[in-house]
Amino acid sequence: MSRPRVLLTGAAGQVGQALARRLDGVDLITPARTELDLGDPAAIVRYLHQTRPDLIINPAAYTDVDKAESHSEAAMAINALAPRVLARLAQDHGIGLIHFSTDYVFDGARPEPYVETDATAPLNVYGRSKRDGEVAVLEECEAAWILRTSWIYSAHGSNFLKTVLRLAQQRKQLNIVADQWGAPTWARTIADAVAHMLGHAHERTALTSRIRQTRGLYHLTAGGATNWHDYACHIVRAMPAMGLQTPLTAADVLPIPAAAYPTAAARPRNSRLCTDKLTRTFGISLPTWEQALQECLGDFDQA
Ligand SMILES: NC(=O)c1ccc[n+]([C@@H]2O[C@H](COP(=O)([O-])OP(=O)(O)OC[C@H]3O[C@@H](n4cnc5c(N)ncnc54)[C@H](OP(=O)(O)O)[C@@H]3O)[C@@H](O)[C@H]2O)c1
Repeated sequence: MSRPRVLLTGAAGQVGQALARRLDGVDLITPARTELDLGDPAAIVRYLHQTRPDLIINPAAYTDVDKAESHSEAAMAINALAPRVLARLAQDHGIGLIHFSTDYVFDGARPEPYVETDATAPLNVYGRSKRDGEVAVLEECEAAWILRTSWIYSAHGSNFLKTVLRLAQQRKQLNIVADQWGAPTWARTIADAVAHMLGHAHERTALTSRIRQTRGLYHLTAGGATNWHDYACHIVRAMPAMGLQTPLTAADVLPIPAAAYPTAAARPRNSRLCTDKLTRTFGISLPTWEQALQECLGDFDQA
């Protein structure tokens, strides 16, 4: 039996790299941005007709949250229009689409973790572009999963974990926001969950019908919750065991309010996402954010 051909966008990104490592038994098509620019709808159509994948996985996105405020056209093109085009093509070709979204579709005013049915109310351009992408995917494609995640980290790309590891080697003190809550989520946790969700479906029809039967939105994050300050303290405490020198102890990591750290894009105060629907539907058990972080830092070069 031939292996399914899976188009993986953004394969150089955090989630893209983790998926490329994790998905076995499939032939991955991993175009670089120079081969497939998601900002060009006609190029997407051409590429799909040429490559004829059996499944599309789309972690590619315009992810610079602050820059999106002044580059809304680019953010909308890549986060809203490109997913619509991919979803329409998936529908036309009779294949499934796995798309990714974000906690930033919410305004963070809810005191509890958000569930999938909660109303979206993004505070910034990035969040609006991702929300529009979600709506487009669900409008266009019957066999679609949208996986909302939060605060992604890995050894690759730019993320809060790597920023703290760098600054903790350069500074004598760090001021970190302590009034925004969420779950740091390792890219590998996301890739493991996607592999689990796909199960043993290993050809086009089985893949498509598995996704169609369980279509919709799912929250996919590590378990538990923290704030950026507490997360930074965990990282600093772990550095000696990683063989990294730092003049800091956790006591040198000072909590500040978000108001004292102005950014171009406003961010939600509460980014916590309830993952019950995912665990109930697929029987997935997700690690706590502390467990995943410990595992990632324990073998950071391979993470
Ligand atoms: N990062 C987070 O904390 C976070 C939180 C919640 C949700 N999410 C969502 O999770 C998903 C994965 O995020 P991530 O952190 O893995 O993203 P990432 O590391 O920033 O990677 C994004 C990828 O998208 C590609 N890309 C951007 N514009 C493109 C274009 N015009 N054409 C083709 N490729 C393009 C990038 O290509 P290049 O390699 O060429 O730059 C990169 O490989 C995204 O949907 C994101 O919105 C992320």
